Amino acid sequence: MSDHCIRDRDLAAVAAATPEPYYLRRREFLRLFGLGVAASAFLPLTSQAASTGFPDALNAGYKLDGVKITPEDLVTSYNNFNEWGQAKDQPKELANRGWKTRPWSIEIGGLCANPRKMDVDELIQLLGPIERRNYRHRCVEAWSMVIPWDGFPLAKLVDLAQPKGEAKYVRFASFFDSANCRAQRSNDFPWPYTEGLTIEESRHELAFLAVGLYGKPLPNQNGAPIRLVVPWKYGFKSAKSLAKIEFVAEQPKTLWNQLAPNEYGFYANVNPNVDHPRWSQKSERVIGAGFFSGKQATLMFNGYEKQVGHLYAGMDLRKNF
Ligand code: MTE
Repeated sequence: MSDHCIRDRDLAAVAAATPEPYYLRRREFLRLFGLGVAASAFLPLTSQAASTGFPDALNAGYKLDGVKITPEDLVTSYNNFNEWGQAKDQPKELANRGWKTRPWSIEIGGLCANPRKMDVDELIQLLGPIERRNYRHRCVEAWSMVIPWDGFPLAKLVDLAQPKGEAKYVRFASFFDSANCRAQRSNDFPWPYTEGLTIEESRHELAFLAVGLYGKPLPNQNGAPIRLVVPWKYGFKSAKSLAKIEFVAEQPKTLWNQLAPNEYGFYANVNPNVDHPRWSQKSERVIGAGFFSGKQATLMFNGYEKQVGHLYAGMDLRKNF
């Protein structure tokens, strides 16, 4: 994560999302899952979408009325993914030079009654149907986007795993593949990228596992094939390309917290009243909104205070930053 704000290469005027025809998305997904057009042609459209593909519409509860969706080309070209470079435009280039994100094995383990290791597409089938939600996305570096994600409530995976009573936290680990990922051959970072949530946070309806954006499978640079999205927290909590999800008794060590504990707390809730030691968190640059019109005030819990405030009732948010 850089300590200075890199100016957007493309500060295009704000554009509302122009969704592609949904039938194209469905076909793309059916191809991905190896389901022929001939077989799918006999299914009614609604059952195709519900059982195997991306949804035809947003979940009405997560529309974010009046908010501009960030243009797709910016969401997929302005990325933080340190495994694939530290400049914003590097992940798109370096994560697509032969890195395979399918087939992909994912492990669910630790203190739970139903541990398992399986192929990610099997997990997607188990957790389906996929739903679409527009979420605000606020990076700790003080820039923001609004992204239409496709995926599932994380709570569905938690229910599947059946955590034991002693499980107080969930630890998320991204992939580790030093043979194919050059950055992981260096000890500059304590790889793999790890993050964590409390068990209550993991069960919150907003905590999400994304497998797509804009109605298409996640591009590698955005965390294919499956990533965490926790919209009320700084973006670094949303670990990409997950390989392992573990239920644990103690607060897990996380990558940024190990590197700079005074800068990146475990909770990392978006909070305009608690500055980062090196910059203000009061406002944010809206990616794609243009040089002069692109600043806006940062909202408590990134605008999700009504939904998540109770999780932190009575907690000192300066101490637990
Ligand atoms: N996950 C992994 N594995 N590696 C990373 O470097 N960066 C985090 C988060 N997840 C990161 C990661 C940060 S700092 C942010 S802001 C978001 O991913 C960026 O997600 P995006 O590129 O899809 O916008």
